[in-house]
Amino acid sequence: MVRIGIVGLGYWGPNFERTFTNLPDSEITAICDLNEDRLNYGKEKIPEVFTTQNLEEMLDKDRIDALVVSTPTKTHFEITKKALEAGLHVFVEKPLATSALECQILVDLAEKFGLILFVGHLFLYNTAVKKMKELVTSGDLGNICYMSSQRLNLGPIRQDVNALWDLAPHDISIMLDFIGSPPVSVNCQGLAYLNEKVHDVCTLTMHFEPKCMAIINVSWLDPSKTRLMTIVGEQKMATFNDMEPLEKIRVYNKRVEAPSYSDSFGEFQFAFQYGDTLSPWLHQVEPLKAECQQFLNCVQNDTQPLTDGQNGLDVVKVLEAADISLHNNGEMVELNDIKQFSPADTNGSVKGLI
Ligand SMILES: NC(=O)c1ccc[n+]([C@@H]2O[C@H](COP(=O)([O-])OP(=O)(O)OC[C@H]3O[C@@H](n4cnc5c(N)ncnc54)[C@H](O)[C@@H]3O)[C@@H](O)[C@H]2O)c1
Repeated sequence: MVRIGIVGLGYWGPNFERTFTNLPDSEITAICDLNEDRLNYGKEKIPEVFTTQNLEEMLDKDRIDALVVSTPTKTHFEITKKALEAGLHVFVEKPLATSALECQILVDLAEKFGLILFVGHLFLYNTAVKKMKELVTSGDLGNICYMSSQRLNLGPIRQDVNALWDLAPHDISIMLDFIGSPPVSVNCQGLAYLNEKVHDVCTLTMHFEPKCMAIINVSWLDPSKTRLMTIVGEQKMATFNDMEPLEKIRVYNKRVEAPSYSDSFGEFQFAFQYGDTLSPWLHQVEPLKAECQQFLNCVQNDTQPLTDGQNGLDVVKVLEAADISLHNNGEMVELNDIKQFSPADTNGSVKGLI
């Protein structure tokens, strides 16, 4: 039995409270939140749980084995660092921290103390995403030309992070998992409309080698809830529409072949190929349940998670580079340059973090 403590019982935290309560291998023994009303809410659900507003009181190995961090992004680093130093395994919500340097410190600490550092890249535990990855890695789609995604809705609007840091971690984590390596460079543009310091709409482009790119469009200022990812391969194309209740994935047997070079304009015709559209059957499992179970397995068996600290660092590196680009009119930023920036250098000013 893994004894779980949850810090942060706001909008997302209660999902952990519900999920870990219902899993047979875990029990929630402590909850921490700065807001007393949220602690009372937690106590209503689990009357015997220990509650506190003081994080230090939580970090007690006599009470918990692992801490789930579901607080605002800018608090992740300090809370996770203290928890690892106290000898606790940590499940931290996305994004892992606010800079690649912070992430590296957490990765090193987890390794030093032999603890599990698990990052909440929820979509990597989604059956539909796993199926999409199978389509990519099996070669069924052929070489990948490009991927695109739209994650749009009206709200929830945040003020502590911009739409890039809030929404894009999902798509970045999925796309890095599909491609299997980080992008070489990124660029990002956006609009800060409601609050001049916080971008509401962002378009991030990641450039991979050789000759592949991914475009991520995120917004909390859009009339329609959209969760759509498209992958265009040389042989087939596929979409993942998370708003579809049943046929979430469609595989299109469509492609276009460029002719070999011709001197005559009249002969220069692209060949379009059309075939069946299929929707693979998916064994649907609640992604959060699968994610939490995976965390418990890692803690109990001392195995490294798919979404470990390094995976969290890879995603934050892209976010950090994209944020630099966002604040420099969409200029191209090489990922290799990111390690040269530190939170002290930027003084928080180039981040979408207030
Ligand atoms: N995986 C997903 O799909 C998903 C969805 C939503 C949110 N999230 C993530 O979950 C995290 C929390 O988001 P949210 O929407 O629940 O935020 P929220 O603001 O609704 O809730 C945060 C809670 O943390 C508490 N808190 C803040 N600082 C604290 C501290 N230092 N110590 C103790 N408690 C503190 C607040 O009082 C609040 O109750 C974020 O990292 C966010 O990115 C993930």
